[in-house]
Amino acid sequence: MLNDVAKVLIDSATLQKRVAEVAEEISRDFSGKEVILIGVLKGSMFFIADLLRKISIPVILDFIGTSSYGVATTTSGAVKITKDLEEDIEGLHVIIVEDIVDTGLTLNFLISTLAPRKPASISVCTLLDKTAHRRANIPVRYRGFPVEDSFVVGYGLDFKDRYRHLPFVCTLKEQVHERQRAK
Ligand code: IMP
Repeated sequence: MLNDVAKVLIDSATLQKRVAEVAEEISRDFSGKEVILIGVLKGSMFFIADLLRKISIPVILDFIGTSSYGVATTTSGAVKITKDLEEDIEGLHVIIVEDIVDTGLTLNFLISTLAPRKPASISVCTLLDKTAHRRANIPVRYRGFPVEDSFVVGYGLDFKDRYRHLPFVCTLKEQVHERQRAK
């Protein structure tokens, strides 16, 4: 696994420090209120777990599933809900927690799906922001790190559902992508 890593972009300590800062920012902005964090499965799993534990105001946790890229690492543009929320979000301050915003199509779809449910507000919080291929104008309120235009894995992010468990954010060697293409 570690042999497949090309370059570590964000190490574990840097991730933890920044996540604590974002949690502080959210706690400050929504002081005196309650928020609901909605994690987008599965990539946000470590980010939302760490973020949640550092938030100091009342918070509810829920998850939503969307269709992913499938076999490709570029977006097909088609998004659908694969697992809906359990909570009724009417009147709640919603924070959608994503691992990475790339084209923005997933978040665009999620915002337009959740808005009619009448939450008090909807904010977007993403660990990584990759703006190179943005196709939808997403109001990203909380951003962990900007990332260069490359495919990254680790700390929840996957390539073919693998590499999520790596404790850092990294790129993979070109031969890993080539190996998959050859299959
Ligand atoms: P968007 O709809 O193009 O913004 O795509 C968002 C989703 O695509 C993310 O939640 C990820 O699941 C996936 N994605 C986009 N870029 C990457 C990447 O570099 N590594 C892993 N997954 C990615």
